[in-house]
Amino acid sequence: MTAVPAASPPTVAIRCAAVTKHYGSGETRIAALRGVDLAVQEGGLTMLVGPSGCGKTTLISILSGILSPSSGELSVFGTDPSRLSDGERAEWRASTVGFVFQQFNLLPALTAAENAAVPLLIRGVPWKQAVEVARGHLAELGLGERCASLPRELSGGQQQRVAIARALVHDPRLLVCDEPTSALDHETGERVIDVLRTAALRSGRVVIVVTHDQRILRYADALLRMDDGCIVGDRSNTSAAPAEGT
Ligand SMILES: Nc1ncnc2c1ncn2[C@@H]1O[C@H](COP(=O)(O)OP(=O)(O)OP(=O)(O)O)[C@@H](O)[C@H]1O
Ligand SMILES: [Mg+2]
Repeated sequence: MTAVPAASPPTVAIRCAAVTKHYGSGETRIAALRGVDLAVQEGGLTMLVGPSGCGKTTLISILSGILSPSSGELSVFGTDPSRLSDGERAEWRASTVGFVFQQFNLLPALTAAENAAVPLLIRGVPWKQAVEVARGHLAELGLGERCASLPRELSGGQQQRVAIARALVHDPRLLVCDEPTSALDHETGERVIDVLRTAALRSGRVVIVVTHDQRILRYADALLRMDDGCIVGDRSNTSAAPAEGT
């Protein structure tokens, strides 16, 4: 009888313990995160769902080093970005994180290909080479014909895909997407999720997608459900779409 090799245990890439975040102080203080505990494994597509205002953008901003938590423990590939100096954190983000903002945040004076190339340009890749790599990602996302267009010449869904190409272009270990299919039709949304899932399944990678889009939930390898600043559900290898209310 041939021995079946044991599958290697999943590696936890991201951990949070009792993470809180509040904005403001005194009477206007808002508790956006009220004690988040989570573990995200590498090599899969993790989706984060929950009602508007429950803290999803706040949480992924903390995981990406854009915001610091008010309290709690955080580890992202062994690093707590909130404990780095400003310079170290900027360096860590530039090398480790790709972030698709809910509002896209494209630079208006740059073409689609130049916008998508920005993370490479920041790292010193020569302009022509960086733009060439960016063009490849844009083509993969169905925008090969629009590389020379400025953001204002693009539809919302096209701008959204430029933002996704920009997040993928430097092959980050952590890719975080805030509503990446919100402006896309069904077919384009599936194409985008396919690209994100391919990126997620490579070893050592984590892709976290915040979504309200019921149509894409079936592609999740893990599903985190948030409500009122806390994780209230955590499922791995989801095959069925979750219940309503997300
Ligand atoms: N800069 C800020 N200053 C004050 N309050 C904020 C700030 N950013 C977010 N909040 C508040 O924190 C809470 C969580 O906001 P967050 O943006 O994380 O929610 P969300 O789950 O991403 O919502 P949505 O699905 O609408 O994008 C909300 O009550 C929001 O109003
Ligand atoms: Mg949000």
